Amino acid sequence: MKRDWHSQFADDIRDYGGYSIGKLFALLNDPGIISLAGGLPSPEIFLKNEMRLASQSRLNEDIERIMQYSATAGETSLIEAIIEFLARDGIKISKDNIVITSSGQQGLDLTGRLFLNPDDVVLVDRPTFAGAIVAFQMERPKFAGVDIREDGSDVGGFRQKIEDLRKKHRTPKFIYVVPDFQNPTGITMSLKKREGLLDLSYQYDIPIVEDSPYRVLRYYGTTIPSIFSLDQARDGGNVIGVYTFSKLFCPGMRVGFNIGPKDVIEKMTNIKEGNVLNTPKYNQDMCTAFLKEMDWEAHIENCRSYYQEKLEAFLETMETNFPGEAGVTWTKPEGGLFLWVSVPKKIDTLSLFHEAIKFKVAFIPGSAFYADNPATNHMRINFSYPSKEQLVEAAKRLSGCIRSQL
Ligand SMILES: Cc1ncc(COP(=O)(O)O)c(C=O)c1O
Repeated sequence: MKRDWHSQFADDIRDYGGYSIGKLFALLNDPGIISLAGGLPSPEIFLKNEMRLASQSRLNEDIERIMQYSATAGETSLIEAIIEFLARDGIKISKDNIVITSSGQQGLDLTGRLFLNPDDVVLVDRPTFAGAIVAFQMERPKFAGVDIREDGSDVGGFRQKIEDLRKKHRTPKFIYVVPDFQNPTGITMSLKKREGLLDLSYQYDIPIVEDSPYRVLRYYGTTIPSIFSLDQARDGGNVIGVYTFSKLFCPGMRVGFNIGPKDVIEKMTNIKEGNVLNTPKYNQDMCTAFLKEMDWEAHIENCRSYYQEKLEAFLETMETNFPGEAGVTWTKPEGGLFLWVSVPKKIDTLSLFHEAIKFKVAFIPGSAFYADNPATNHMRINFSYPSKEQLVEAAKRLSGCIRSQL
């Protein structure tokens, strides 16, 4: 007899489908397609030789410990290096305030597991990072979303949502934001809004989860203080920071870190004991080497000019080719890896995605970035992975595709 596995699955997981956009990538096998769909950093600027050298020296010096289990909270040498790294960004923490994660995605998973019961509410931007939605969805929460503005989260809209929920005797468990060069829109939250979000957090006693994978990748303008550091300056203790080495160093190491109040970090460490137990020491050592031995500042400078050039090439080609007159608009990010294109409402970007494949270009339909009630006339564009020449060609192809649908 064939077993009915579905009925055997846990209630929380039975209807869980993971990443919806994963399935679209299966359609991009044709090598002629220029894909603006992924979120990959460019391997052209990976520190490959530095990595080889650091790897060899660690294996020579410490192979037995590398091959062994290691501490759940993370390697002391990496924790110390991160504390120093964050201090330069105005964040003062001690080792009680940090847990090493197996990358940002695990950082989000630990956050969801720690705070969310089924039906709890998470306040998010519309759109927001799809990976956060899928991580939190495992706990079956409800999402309350407010359309993002040009200068970041709509803090007034968040306040209204909180007030509406309070009338139903509900309070969001936390507010999730990506303030710097948000994935998927590329939008950066203004200083005023960061302070406003903190006011909201204090007034209603709702923690903020600040996800910061792209913070160092700024190509224009000046760095705005993180919400974490602004909260510290106000002695709040209301913010949890989710960080990753994926965009800073490379995603293959799967190393990141969460920072926050001691009680939160202790509990996240307990949860990590129950899933991956520890992040591989080798991978952590490579990240320590990145911060302590490789010239990471020069690397970031290099990433900035490299990605800025790509962004400029793409924006310039859009400017001359995209049908702006027909109501097509796009964000102009100051950093990060993505921009967000909006087309007239009559065009559904999921259908456009299939059309675009015929034009040999691909993007992610914006609907993937909404926890519910998805808007259907946007798309996310990644400009970090294709070459500059491919980006120019892709912008022309995409423009042709959009024009064909107007
Ligand atoms: C906003 C945001 N948060 C977290 C992550 C997770 O990154 P990773 O798991 O590679 O560290 C990403 C990756 O694209 C992201 O864009």
